[in-house]
Amino acid sequence: MADIYETRFRYYKFGDYEITEMINYGKSAVVFKGYNANDKQVAIKIFDNELIARYGETTQKQRIFRENTLKNHNIDGLVDILDGGTFTFEKTETEYFYIVMPFLQGCNLKEYIEKKGACDEDIAKKIFRSLHESTEELLKLNIAHRDIKPENIMMLDNGDIVLMDLGVLKLIGTDDLTDVGESKPFIGTLRYAPPEFLRREESNTIDGWKAVNIYQIGAVLYDILMGTELFKQYSEPYANLVYAVCESIPHIDRADCDQEFVQLVRNMLIKNWQTRISHFNKANIPQILSASSKNSQNDLLSAILSPQSKYITMENEIQQIKNKKDETLRELGELQNKIGKIIESCLTELEEKKAINEWFLSYDGRPRELNRYVKAFILSGEGKQGFFSKFAWCPVEH
Ligand SMILES: Nc1ncnc2c1ncn2[C@@H]1O[C@H](COP(=O)(O)OP(=O)(O)O)[C@@H](O)[C@H]1O
Ligand SMILES: [Mg+2]
Repeated sequence: MADIYETRFRYYKFGDYEITEMINYGKSAVVFKGYNANDKQVAIKIFDNELIARYGETTQKQRIFRENTLKNHNIDGLVDILDGGTFTFEKTETEYFYIVMPFLQGCNLKEYIEKKGACDEDIAKKIFRSLHESTEELLKLNIAHRDIKPENIMMLDNGDIVLMDLGVLKLIGTDDLTDVGESKPFIGTLRYAPPEFLRREESNTIDGWKAVNIYQIGAVLYDILMGTELFKQYSEPYANLVYAVCESIPHIDRADCDQEFVQLVRNMLIKNWQTRISHFNKANIPQILSASSKNSQNDLLSAILSPQSKYITMENEIQQIKNKKDETLRELGELQNKIGKIIESCLTELEEKKAINEWFLSYDGRPRELNRYVKAFILSGEGKQGFFSKFAWCPVEH
């Protein structure tokens, strides 16, 4: 798609705009550099027409309209929308949807991390502050971004951070453009979606969407701190990634950083959205953000001195592990009972037929109640150690 669009629209003119070259593309559009009527440099995003085929023209028009409602907004750290609408490409008489933004000089955060690897704590905190503030401002307008991820964050050459791509904005409380009756398709980006959003069980309230923001910002911070994509090892096949989003607890290990901040990021990735939001609300964000990275030296020291610090984990993680352990022990107990019963009935049958008593008697010359012995052995839990090896080696009566 990008290649075709690049050849088609390079140096193309429509309305007040003149396109020059392609900047980049995402999953829904190709973004070009260009100029407006006042010769001011702008970025022109031309949407993939395939989306119109997929979601229908009305949906796509509503999306552009919604983006346009943010025209000239005053939200720091959020890309401005200058204009938007449709134009007709005369050669093929095809209609295209477009959005005009200020041209942002820099590179997106995905490219930045690919180039630089794991980032310093200061950069992570700066990105956190910017994303947190801009998404909170959007929430005040009853809007959720829904697609916060490194590719949609611009690292400007002047050091500023800008959240881009307002393509899947959500008006909180209203129905989704793509939801039809019971059918609620997933929109956005799976890797950076919290489990409740992936299942489309998110709460359509300010708190519900705040929890989605927190998770997505946490996922971005994971990439920044670890220098790699969240759940990278689960990338293929798709079902693995779905599993990871729902079940796998990301491991964040940065002993050189302020541990309160690292713990905050871990908490932002809690699977249960209510627990996630309550941890976040309890956290002292201004204090965490103002802690200077000089603290890192102390943190590093305490990390070395305290072997436990590596294993600091979330309350609900511990609970999850405990539950899993209890469940496994219960299943093991049930299994042991079943095996015990099977063996018991086999032995009863063998005893009735006097099939092995002679062998057993001859083992140490004393008669035994084989049935009772085996039952006690299995139910005592020693069977866990390997029933048959123990039985053959040392049949001691309890
Ligand atoms: N205003 C802009 N200025 C400069 N580059 C931009 C601008 N908007 C987007 N880009 C570049 O284009 C890429 C895709 O833009 P995006 O809006 O995320 O499209 P998509 O909806 O297809 O994901 C971004 O990752 C970024 O590199
Ligand atoms: Mg994008």
